[in-house]
Amino acid sequence: MASPSRSGVFAQATDQRLEAYAESISFDSRLYEQDIRGSIAHADMLRTVGLLTDQEFSLICTELEKIRGQLERGELPMRFELEDIHMHVEQALIDATGDVGRKLHTARSRNDQVSTDLRMWIRESLDHIDELLVALQRAFLSRCDADFDVILPAYTHLQRAQPVLAPHYWLAYIEKLERDRGRVADCRKRVNQSPLGIAAVAGTTLPIDRQQTAKALGFDGITANSLDTSSDRDFALESSFALSMIASHLSGWAEEWILWSTVEFDFIQIPQQFCTGSSIMPQKVNPDTLELTRGKSARVMGSLQTLMLLVKNLPLAYNRDLQEDKPPLFDAFDTTRAMLELATPIVAGATLKRDSISARIEKGYLDATTLMEWMIRKGMPQRTAHHLVGAIVGEAMKQDLPLADLPVETLAKLSDGAIDASIKEVLGTQNAVAAFQSEGSTAPERVREQIDIWTQRLAND
Ligand code: ARG
Repeated sequence: MASPSRSGVFAQATDQRLEAYAESISFDSRLYEQDIRGSIAHADMLRTVGLLTDQEFSLICTELEKIRGQLERGELPMRFELEDIHMHVEQALIDATGDVGRKLHTARSRNDQVSTDLRMWIRESLDHIDELLVALQRAFLSRCDADFDVILPAYTHLQRAQPVLAPHYWLAYIEKLERDRGRVADCRKRVNQSPLGIAAVAGTTLPIDRQQTAKALGFDGITANSLDTSSDRDFALESSFALSMIASHLSGWAEEWILWSTVEFDFIQIPQQFCTGSSIMPQKVNPDTLELTRGKSARVMGSLQTLMLLVKNLPLAYNRDLQEDKPPLFDAFDTTRAMLELATPIVAGATLKRDSISARIEKGYLDATTLMEWMIRKGMPQRTAHHLVGAIVGEAMKQDLPLADLPVETLAKLSDGAIDASIKEVLGTQNAVAAFQSEGSTAPERVREQIDIWTQRLAND
């Protein structure tokens, strides 16, 4: 059978190789649900404006519902000569209804149809991603109270820097995920504009009502320019960027927890359900899920790259290149979804290794900056205090002691009497954490405030 898109203008049949090369049904069949909904809304509009009779509309509806069922059950055979899901659905309708079905494509092109289906699919997928982001935020939040008394080193350059409360770490990820949610919500607005009715590229001479189909399909409005709309895949690229940022956040987190679960760090135990063993080394409990998260993030970012390159040289308007947007886009969504689905139980179920963390928390002079700031409070210029505390740390290193264990006399001597016994109030990581004050800091009361804020925000969502 010849492709329905080949009109009477063609004198020669399609080369078989082109059929296999051009088909997209093998990957766009997952748009079938959106395609059927879009077609029903379109047919309903055609009826409203007098291009279909009531009987024709109800026949089309009944048959499209049957086709939906066949597709759900995998009963509709896939035929490469029908190219894509749009043609499969339309052809099935024509097979069932003859000339009535031949009217469905009135004032419509696959160019606006594919954009409509894809926008609906992305919109629904973004909503699902948003739910998964909230679930992960909740998992981080669920740890905050139980881990409140744990002090962890904060790192810069992966060198020990300053002490922070464990929930300060969890809240850091909640913030990142919140920005991810913001990006998802923002790009959803541009995704959710209806292209239906721009037809191929210039609109139509027929008296259609684009507002009606937009409303029926849950779009916020209609796109303004048919040329722009026919060519536009910004919405797919933006979504893919939003997913890439999520993937980047998850990859960084995975890397951190992979490190934390080494014998060298020994900070955290990943739930065993999410670890794997070794076929040769019996002692191994490997954090493969996290490694896969780090690895799969590359696929999501690769999809963004593919999409960027796909569109960058396209003249207006629709070009068949755009068919190639779907495999990377679908893969980016599927992969991000899977990453989020596994991150949540790992975050909720991991155990901080408190004894191991606290046994080494006084290593690395996490309280040195607090000591410097104590001297600034006493009136010493910052640069002077910075230099002096460096010398004090040098002395402590020589004696292999934490700052809190240096005798006050040594501190007094090194500082020309600037330091007295009251310094002990800010030395040691416990005191150092308690000494923080500023907004956004790890000060226990600030962290508590943030936990309360997030408890409320995530409860209302
Ligand atoms: N399968 C195509 C796609 O995904 C549908 C649009 C085809 N349009 C055309 N004029 N050949 O982009």
